[in-house]
Amino acid sequence: MFPLRLSIVLATLLRATQESLATYTDLSRRSGHLFARSSISGLDSINGSYNINITLGGNQYSVIIDTGSSDLWVAGVVPQAKDTGADASIQYAIGSAAGPVKTAQLEILGFTVPDQAFIEVPSGVDAPDGTGLIGLGPNIGSHVHDALDDLPASDTPLDRIFRQNLTTPNYLTVLLNRPNDTAEKYTGAMTIGEVLPQYSNITNQPKVPVSSLQSGLFAQDQHWSIVLDSNGIIGPDGKAVKVTSNATDAPTHDVNQLVAILDTGFTLPQVPSEVARALYSGAKGAKLTNLQSFSGDIWVIDCDAEVNATFVIGGQSYPIHPLDLNQQGTDDDGNNICFGAFQPRIAGAEDPTYDVILGMAWLTNVYLLIDYGDFVDGTTKTDDPYVQFLPMTDPAAAHADFVATRLSGKDTTSSQRNSGSGGPKGLFEKHKIPILAGAAAAGALLL
Ligand SMILES: *[C@@H]1O[C@H](CO)[C@@H](O)[C@H](O)[C@H]1NC(C)=O
Ligand SMILES: *[C@@H]1O[C@H](CO)[C@@H](O)[C@H](O)[C@H]1NC(C)=O
Ligand SMILES: *[C@@H]1O[C@H](CO)[C@@H](O)[C@H](O)[C@H]1NC(C)=O
Ligand SMILES: *[C@@H]1O[C@H](CO)[C@@H](O)[C@H](O)[C@H]1NC(C)=O
Ligand SMILES: *[C@@H]1O[C@H](CO)[C@@H](O)[C@H](O)[C@H]1NC(C)=O
Ligand SMILES: *[C@@H]1O[C@H](CO)[C@@H](O)[C@H](O)[C@H]1NC(C)=O
Ligand SMILES: *[C@@H]1O[C@H](CO)[C@@H](O)[C@H](O)[C@H]1NC(C)=O
Repeated sequence: MFPLRLSIVLATLLRATQESLATYTDLSRRSGHLFARSSISGLDSINGSYNINITLGGNQYSVIIDTGSSDLWVAGVVPQAKDTGADASIQYAIGSAAGPVKTAQLEILGFTVPDQAFIEVPSGVDAPDGTGLIGLGPNIGSHVHDALDDLPASDTPLDRIFRQNLTTPNYLTVLLNRPNDTAEKYTGAMTIGEVLPQYSNITNQPKVPVSSLQSGLFAQDQHWSIVLDSNGIIGPDGKAVKVTSNATDAPTHDVNQLVAILDTGFTLPQVPSEVARALYSGAKGAKLTNLQSFSGDIWVIDCDAEVNATFVIGGQSYPIHPLDLNQQGTDDDGNNICFGAFQPRIAGAEDPTYDVILGMAWLTNVYLLIDYGDFVDGTTKTDDPYVQFLPMTDPAAAHADFVATRLSGKDTTSSQRNSGSGGPKGLFEKHKIPILAGAAAAGALLL
């Protein structure tokens, strides 16, 4: 539930990327013909987030897709909306959204829900009229649902869609395209109840169970959460990173396996600090730095440092592109830097129910399918929810991309191989800056 984090980090990224020379060409090729069928939509990259167009009360809204939260909100007055008399607010890792809960006709991906419940947030600088966010997480995490006494009519948009036509398969797929070093346009795709035809073999991939939290105290914290394999992160030296799970409130799992949540609304993947250290401390120029614009610690590294890593889930390897692991941005003074995008968890991203947030810079390496199973409110299905991933990054091609983009075509990475550990340890750990919660009044979108 951390979609607003992206606004801050991506503002930083965008400034840097505007100056980037590379042009971005792979989208149309990768996404194919996205508009051929109604339940497949393209995505727009807006200020670094991935947005989809929806219609609410007859108005069009460009909303951030967010698998990390479970509510729909839009900014501005929605025409023909009915006020329910209830209010709701959502607290994200950074920022919040609050306002009256209303209902209006929703159209998304060719589906229509006549009376979708949502939060109407006053428009403002951070949430201009016509923008918003659609939470694609489990219904149990919905604040709107709570505010309306758990009535079926207050379910999340996807639950409404799945409930009103039981023939629609209960799944969502998302493809996020990589910005590489340009942020002009990098799009993506989202589907409901069908898969992108060019990647239909995703349904043959291992089914990774969603780990359900025990009902009770933390049920509201349910995310699309999975458990990585043991030895589930292979570092730059080709060896498994030693990890210790600290997700004490997740269901029982091996302490050598990290619990991760899938979050299309979170920019920088969040990992335990020892994982970030294993990934980056040996990279050229590595320096753990506390930057306000990153809400905490970040490994600053040289722009030409090629960092390789692979995640292992359900016995399948998912290589991560070096342009996702080492990204361009700016420091607090506006200077261009490169940084390790897999960030030591910032304070707001710490949670006893998971260790890792698989945010955008991770998700660009897979095509993702989330099957809601019986996580749909009122479902008669008895299937457990699961996730499937199709690997999208070929290490050799990714290496060639990196050489072309960051090394002007000249492969000098052999000198970087297996540099192992090193770098300053814990230098900045004492200087954590608490996340600014924002100071705007209730009812506004805080940043
Ligand atoms: C971006 O990354 C993709 C996938 O790795 C690659 O095919 C494409 O050429 C890259 N685009 C640019 C502009 O570097
Ligand atoms: C969303 O709507 C805007 C404005 O009508 C349009 O320019 C954009 O292409 C649409 N995006 C997608 C992904 O359909
Ligand atoms: C994108 O960010 C810029 C600068 O922060 C802001 O002015 C603009 O309104 C944002 N656009 C949207 C659609 O949020
Ligand atoms: C329900 O979904 C199925 C499969 O997606 C579709 O063929 C059918 O037309 C839908 N029925 C209605 C009433 O929308
Ligand atoms: C899935 O299909 C794509 C496109 O046909 C192909 O490139 C890819 O290798 C296949 N992946 C797997 C895991 O079968
Ligand atoms: C483990 O989590 C607890 C709280 O959930 C926190 O106080 C502690 O610092 C964490 N330990 C590590 C090693 O991250
Ligand atoms: C990263 O992986 C690629 C592809 O396997 C390899 O060619 C390259 O040498 C590796 N880079 C480093 C620094 O280890």
